[in-house]
Amino acid sequence: MFTRVCKEDTIAVGGMRVVIADAHVIILAWPDNGVIKAFQGVCPHTNMPLAEADFDGTVLTCPSHAWTWDMNTGAPIHPQESPLAEYPVKIEDGVVYIDTDGVSPLYASP
Ligand code: FES
Repeated sequence: MFTRVCKEDTIAVGGMRVVIADAHVIILAWPDNGVIKAFQGVCPHTNMPLAEADFDGTVLTCPSHAWTWDMNTGAPIHPQESPLAEYPVKIEDGVVYIDTDGVSPLYASP
């Protein structure tokens, strides 16, 4: 079921923000050459929140140990190890909705 999380105009192209949907911490990112995407908002490395992560319009960098991901896909760049879980996103009448059903954050193997 899709849950309303924010208005579309609270995020800009090349920007990101953290939202909460159904108690999931989620990063909403709008890559420079893409569409709004939603990924787990906690780092697969240590479960640390990614609210303070750096986003350059394509790549998200965790502030703790600089793991990086492509925000078009959630695929890991460095290390090539742990992708971010992606949530379905829907935008209707300028409002962003996310579906958390069946999606759980992914974690690096210990
Ligand atoms: S906690 Fe994110 S890279 Fe280590």
